[in-house]
Amino acid sequence: MTQLQLNPNLLKVPLYVAGKTIEEVEEEYGLDEVVKMGSNENPLGPSPLAVEAAAKMLTEAHRYPGYWEKELRRKLAPTLDPTFTEKNVLTGNGGCDILRMVTHAFMCEGGETITASATFPMFAILTTMFGGKTIEVPLTPDHRFDLPAILRAITPATRLIFLCTPNNPTGTIVKRCEADEFVEKVPERVVVVFDESYLDFSTDPERADSVKYVKQGRNVVAARSFSKKSGLANLRVGYAIGREGIIEYLHHTQMPFNTGSISLAAAAASLDDYDYQRRSTQLIEEERAHLYDALDSLDLDYVRSEANFVLIVNPPMDAKQMVEAILRKGVIVRWAGSMGMPNAVRVTLGTREQNQQFVTVLRSVLEEARAA
Ligand SMILES: Cc1ncc(COP(=O)(O)O)c(C=O)c1O
Repeated sequence: MTQLQLNPNLLKVPLYVAGKTIEEVEEEYGLDEVVKMGSNENPLGPSPLAVEAAAKMLTEAHRYPGYWEKELRRKLAPTLDPTFTEKNVLTGNGGCDILRMVTHAFMCEGGETITASATFPMFAILTTMFGGKTIEVPLTPDHRFDLPAILRAITPATRLIFLCTPNNPTGTIVKRCEADEFVEKVPERVVVVFDESYLDFSTDPERADSVKYVKQGRNVVAARSFSKKSGLANLRVGYAIGREGIIEYLHHTQMPFNTGSISLAAAAASLDDYDYQRRSTQLIEEERAHLYDALDSLDLDYVRSEANFVLIVNPPMDAKQMVEAILRKGVIVRWAGSMGMPNAVRVTLGTREQNQQFVTVLRSVLEEARAA
């Protein structure tokens, strides 16, 4: 038999573990009704304007996408900054594809990425895929990216720094004042990536926003997504923001027609859906507060979040077993072990009804554990 020549980098790549689907859980546990609060999806469903635009575009399914990629970039750019043009924006097949493009563009054999020890696992997975090594810096005691420690971890091999703000799974943000100081001190040869997939949910006026650094002409790239606030996770649209030179270079890593017009037109339409955007952010703000109250009443520790999920930390039982027990009662939540926090459980905020169902299930799981 022919000896296959395998890519040694790929052999080291751990497979990404996605949250369980409703269908999987229904089948596995013989349940009729399951609530999904495990993948940070939008509980309102998709933006209605996006659905309308996608449906219209279906009659164009026989054509390769062309026009709509440029149209989305043109429409997005001024919403980010009045000085931006489509040359500052690049679209991809979800935010993950943007992270892939940036890593592909800047990581080489022997290069290093610095990120946090408890964050979105794709930063490390992509680094390995492209032959690099990931340096994981622990979070601060209040579960935030430790920027001074990241600065100290920079070596001549550092190519990329991934900051996730709000961070998945902790929901904590990088503050503007600390980010200002940080980007000033990072050597110019290093690219700083701000993963801002959840930034739309943050209401903290102190939050960092990478657009400012892009405007300053720095080697900063933001990765953003239509999956969360626009409710389009299934359509796979993400985008990068960067200075013109970087965006132009990133185009070299892009597959032709990487996102279809159905998705691109839906994403463009969602930008006009102010009513949906307002309802999304309002729901998350209200439900965060509601869930905090419920967790307080259960005497559980959690991290205050600027995203559409809340991380319960150090529960009074094994976190993985707790997730399993909650799952058996029909609610999908996420064990944060694969995100570097084995003693924590991440809960995506749902509608009021879903959150109440979660709290009822959680209460009974904790009572059963106490009684055992
Ligand atoms: C921090 C972070 N970045 C990026 C993504 C990718 O999102 P998508 O590829 O759906 O845009 C996710 C998805 O959950 C995420 O949590």
